[in-house]
Amino acid sequence: MSKRDRISLCTLMIVCSVLFFSAPGHSAEGGKTENSCVRCHSQLPGSSFVGARSHSWTGSIHQKHGVTCDKCHGGNPRAAEQKEAHAGVLGSGNPQSTIYYKNIPSTCGKCHGAEFYKFTQSLHYKRLEATGRGPECVTCHGSMVTSILTPDTIAAVCEQCHNERLGIFPFIPQKAKAVLLLLRESNSLLDADQRLYHPAAGTVGARHMRDARSSLHSARLDWHKFDLDTITGHLQEMYNSLEALPRRNPH
Ligand code: HEC
Ligand code: HEC
Ligand code: HEC
Ligand code: HEC
Ligand code: HEC
Repeated sequence: MSKRDRISLCTLMIVCSVLFFSAPGHSAEGGKTENSCVRCHSQLPGSSFVGARSHSWTGSIHQKHGVTCDKCHGGNPRAAEQKEAHAGVLGSGNPQSTIYYKNIPSTCGKCHGAEFYKFTQSLHYKRLEATGRGPECVTCHGSMVTSILTPDTIAAVCEQCHNERLGIFPFIPQKAKAVLLLLRESNSLLDADQRLYHPAAGTVGARHMRDARSSLHSARLDWHKFDLDTITGHLQEMYNSLEALPRRNPH
């Protein structure tokens, strides 16, 4: 291939991709690629059950990262016809479905492997598998809006099951709120210290800084095991490492 051929091929590819991405109805809703699920579902009336569910994905972090419907529901996102596109797509009541409540953790786990792995070690997962009475990812994150719980919202979610009426550890909601708050504050504290202190590589300070980071990381990971005391333990280790950091003399 001559140099000029290569240049014109290049130009052609650029023109094609510009045309592709700017075609009406493709870019805004469909993330980076054409996707028939998104295209058809975005036209369904919001008043219907399926339409409302579809629209709740719009604006989510998953939409922003191009995680389209088929990534969680299966089906063929290149087929324009509903029947063909829906091949393999099953409703949440079907035990074979990717979104049947017991299958949700592994569906999400395809991409969120670390959270999934810790979750499988929790009592929640064991109860979910055995009796269906444990929470799964969607209980806390919502299916498509995928919200992150905050210290202000977490207690209400835990209270669905951890309350006096059901008698399953009714103290947990308040404890979870405190631990999540501590996790957030520890994160901010570490961020602040990282901006202030830049210990040279190989020094004691650098080692303490690394230990602190690694303790915070373990605390975040262990969150999905829901062993609240272990999380607090990791955060205590993080504080100890920061405490041990040689500080410059305060004036
Ligand atoms: C041409 C239009 C069209 C396309 C393409 C399409 N759907 Fe649908 N989908 C619908 C309609 C309409 C419904 C409402 C139920 C029905 O009529 O079957 C629906 C229902 C659904 C449901 C609910 C199923 C249930 O049983 O509760 C899911 C989940 C779903 N679609 C996902 C997808 C996914 C994933 C894709 C892409 C791989 C896709 N759809 C492509 C039109 C479409
Ligand atoms: C990150 C994964 C994920 C993505 C992306 C996603 N969904 Fe879902 N969706 C779920 C889960 C999980 C459920 C079941 C949640 C529940 O029971 O509350 C669900 C439920 C639904 C339902 C109700 C089905 C039923 O049988 O109850 C419809 C319809 C639906 N989604 C359509 C879509 C469409 C259309 C898109 C893309 C515009 C989409 N979803 C994107 C995970 C996802
Ligand atoms: C195809 C891959 C994929 C699947 C499947 C998937 N996600 Fe995600 N998810 C992502 C990406 C990419 C992001 C955005 C980048 C990031 O935070 O990692 C994200 C972000 C998130 C966030 C926000 C993280 C933050 O820091 O703000 C949550 C919560 C989340 N996903 C939960 C879920 C749940 C629950 C499911 C299953 C119903 C699911 N995801 C399925 C890829 C996926
Ligand atoms: C009982 C509630 C609960 C369940 C069940 C749950 N999570 Fe979470 N998840 C949380 C909370 C609370 C946070 C926020 C922790 C924080 O602020 O660091 C979170 C954070 C996340 C994040 C963002 C992590 C980050 O550091 O940005 C992802 C991704 C995630 N969860 C995925 C999942 C997946 C996948 C599942 C199922 C296998 C799941 N979660 C099950 C409560 C839950
Ligand atoms: C859908 C119901 C449900 C929700 C929602 C729920 N849990 Fe649980 N949780 C359970 C069940 C069931 C058990 C197991 C009780 C038993 O068998 O002894 C449990 C046990 C626990 C345990 C004890 C685990 C152990 O290893 O000893 C902790 C901690 C816990 N949950 C934390 C939380 C937190 C934090 C939240 C909210 C973010 C939450 N749970 C939300 C159902 C739920």
